[in-house]
Amino acid sequence: MAVKKITKRWIFNSFGVILVILIALEMVISFSIKDYYYGSAERVVYSQAETVSGLLSKYYSEGTGDYEDYFRGIVTSFEKRNIMELMVISENGKIALTSSGFLPNEDSLTPDCFEAEKSLEKTAEYIGKVNGEKVLSVTVVPEGSTENFSAFRIVTSLEKVDSQISILIIGSSVICAAIIFFVAVSGSFFMNSIVKPVGEIGEAAKKIAEGDFNAKIVKNTDDEIGDLCDTINYMADELGATERMKNDFISSVSHELRTPLTAIKGWAEMLEDSSKDDSIDSATLQRGMGVIIGETERLSVMVEELLDFSRLQSGRMVLQPMKLDIIAELSEAVLTFEQRAIREKKDLIYNENDDIIAVTGDKNRLRQVFVNIIDNALKYSDEGGSVTISTLRSENGFVDIVVKDTGIGIPAEQLEKVKTKFFKGNATRRGSGIGLAVADEIIRMHGGEILLDSVEGEGTTVTIRLPIDK
Ligand SMILES: Nc1ncnc2c1ncn2[C@@H]1O[C@H](COP(=O)(O)OP(=O)(O)OP(=O)(O)O)[C@@H](O)[C@H]1O
Ligand SMILES: [Mg+2]
Repeated sequence: MAVKKITKRWIFNSFGVILVILIALEMVISFSIKDYYYGSAERVVYSQAETVSGLLSKYYSEGTGDYEDYFRGIVTSFEKRNIMELMVISENGKIALTSSGFLPNEDSLTPDCFEAEKSLEKTAEYIGKVNGEKVLSVTVVPEGSTENFSAFRIVTSLEKVDSQISILIIGSSVICAAIIFFVAVSGSFFMNSIVKPVGEIGEAAKKIAEGDFNAKIVKNTDDEIGDLCDTINYMADELGATERMKNDFISSVSHELRTPLTAIKGWAEMLEDSSKDDSIDSATLQRGMGVIIGETERLSVMVEELLDFSRLQSGRMVLQPMKLDIIAELSEAVLTFEQRAIREKKDLIYNENDDIIAVTGDKNRLRQVFVNIIDNALKYSDEGGSVTISTLRSENGFVDIVVKDTGIGIPAEQLEKVKTKFFKGNATRRGSGIGLAVADEIIRMHGGEILLDSVEGEGTTVTIRLPIDK
């Protein structure tokens, strides 16, 4: 599941990296502390060794008295006796003299005491345990040493230094552990703030996918996740609306199909009955056949419209473009409405343009658009209303076909939606709500657009804008 993967990724990528860096840092700090403290201890011991060596070389250059006495004098007056010990070692590896006055046994002689003689610099160092105590020992073999005074050695305890180092290392480790702890706690809070809502979003999206468009996600934060919640809620609303529109569409289409079918069936039954006893006169027969043919025509137009719609939806609609005079096409479309306008007692005013305006387009599809728009204009106006059709050639290479009616108008809040499929703003008039959607798509395929302008109760102006051939 996504939740586990995100947490895992965070552990590996973020937390893991911090952990490794801190551990490495802690190791570097520990080594540096140890290096620094041991280095300091060595510097102090070596500087004392140098002082003693210096005093001995002074004896060689100008000394007159007894060498051993002189050396004994240096040892007994050794200044740093409180923190380190100066010892004299005899040739046979015995401790001859110490600055503390106390002679330890031979066990306390560390390897440096024997290595100094052999080494090139006549100096050797040792860090390690002596009788359970950690010490730093430096042995120097001076020039002109005698049998009893063959080398001197300076020893200092490292116990205090070690405990100091331990305190610092423990302290820095505690700080590192605290950092890791805070990173873990704040990180897990942060992860929860992502992982939990993501899980909820996933659940809600699943419900929506299963068709429950009322599933809502509660938005808790005002960040990208909050935005995602908003988007998904919006998506659910839109899907719900589309679903409702689709259901309405099915019921209105069924209704539309049933009306002509009822008329056809009624007339057919009537004709059948009267043909049995020859009671029908030819005028009634004519009327009946007229209704049947007319309604069948209407049904096939409707089915054709539905098929067009489904072709548009699946992108299967292909235009058959040719060069045509758009005014001629419009005039023909208007002509088909003349009878209907008279029948419905509406004024159909056509301001025919005398120009020839050449447009490349699909003749039948463009005719279909004009028919749709003029049909709407008539359908949504009442008796006594008027529909005015005019054309306008604009300077920037477009022609505007304007269909203006004095009908019921479109409420402002519906204006944006009327071009969407299945949208029917007015339940009192017949229609399936796909006419404008189809028209809009066809005009768009021609590189044009349909503009709507309407005032509720006053009327609607629909402008079909098409590019003119150059
Ligand atoms: N001239 C107009 N005056 C008022 N309302 C209009 C006009 N043209 C369109 N509408 C509104 O826009 C909606 C969508 O129009 P559209 O042509 O797509 O569908 P329809 O006319 O209801 O059905 P169909 O055209 O598929 O038979 C209409 O239901 C109506 O509410
Ligand atoms: Mg329509």
